[in-house]
Amino acid sequence: MNILITGGAGFIGSHLCKRLLKDDNNVYCIDNLSTGSMDTIKPLKAHLRFTFIHADVTKDLPPNSLPDHIDYIYHLASPASPNHHSSISYHALPMETMMVNTVGTHAMLELAKKYHARFLFTSTSEIYGEPLENPQKESYRGNVSTTGPRSVYDEAKRFGETLVAYYQRELEVDTRIARIFNTYGPHMSDKDMRMSVLFMQQALKNEPITIFGDGTQTRSLCYVDDLVNGLVIFMEKNGLSGEIINMGSTDEKTVLEYAQLIKSIAHSESEISVTEKLPEDDPKQRKPDITKAKELLGWEPTTSIEDGLKKTIDTIRTNL
Ligand SMILES: NC(=O)c1ccc[n+]([C@@H]2O[C@H](COP(=O)([O-])OP(=O)(O)OC[C@H]3O[C@@H](n4cnc5c(N)ncnc54)[C@H](O)[C@@H]3O)[C@@H](O)[C@H]2O)c1
Repeated sequence: MNILITGGAGFIGSHLCKRLLKDDNNVYCIDNLSTGSMDTIKPLKAHLRFTFIHADVTKDLPPNSLPDHIDYIYHLASPASPNHHSSISYHALPMETMMVNTVGTHAMLELAKKYHARFLFTSTSEIYGEPLENPQKESYRGNVSTTGPRSVYDEAKRFGETLVAYYQRELEVDTRIARIFNTYGPHMSDKDMRMSVLFMQQALKNEPITIFGDGTQTRSLCYVDDLVNGLVIFMEKNGLSGEIINMGSTDEKTVLEYAQLIKSIAHSESEISVTEKLPEDDPKQRKPDITKAKELLGWEPTTSIEDGLKKTIDTIRTNL
């Protein structure tokens, strides 16, 4: 199969490239390296079936950079970190985030139409905003601010979903939308500063682990290999055009519990500091209902949080 992955040099995209190469596919990775890095795909570059295309999906692609046919397009390109202090967050890259999820999604859908390729869009749990129901089912329409600080991401993803639904409904493109919940694992950028990676770095340096708010807000973290497995099953299974499926872990813990667990697994002497103010629009609860993923895909995460954190901490430790 010829497979195009946008955002393939990012955290999730690099794991997806590796997995699809292992499955004997030809992988074409498009990335503008705005939040990703060549380091994540360095081991893949020598692979004969791997092609890296340095390009921005909101602009014209370099001439003759694509093969004659494309079977699948995974559209992952987008900043994803919500941390206000991160230089690669969607707060730091607001225009880029809005454009890649709208103009970029439109351009990739046009490619899917031209090549008769199946298309998968990585949407996000953030389209549910500050949810009034927990856990969130795919049918929940969300409680989202159109103008709040997170809207550059949330609303761009929502419009991205609208484009995908339109191309499926009216233009006969075979599409799938995966609504991804918090994911963690090796190759998260050290500039990312999402909760899990920040806590792990702080723990390994024996620096205070800083919690926004009082730490009672909850998160459910999914290990990246589990997520990638779910994305691949979702793409490859026939008869799912137009489906929207939540993907994430249902193992809900408070932010304080994660801090304590990471401290313990990293054998760290860090203090846990709960003094930071909760950012505006930061969701208090995030947990997917994954009944649909189980029923339609036979998928659910299988890596325990302890094993996943250990693998991630070991990788970060060797790169520190
Ligand atoms: N990581 C999570 O927990 C999470 C949760 C929900 C949704 N998602 C979604 O999954 C996808 C991947 O997230 P991630 O965590 O790997 O993020 P990431 O920032 O590590 O990867 C995104 C990649 O897209 C590239 N990119 C950005 N704009 C581009 C453009 N205009 N043209 C070409 N490439 C561009 C970046 O350089 C980067 O390599 C995103 O769409 C994100 O919204 C991630």
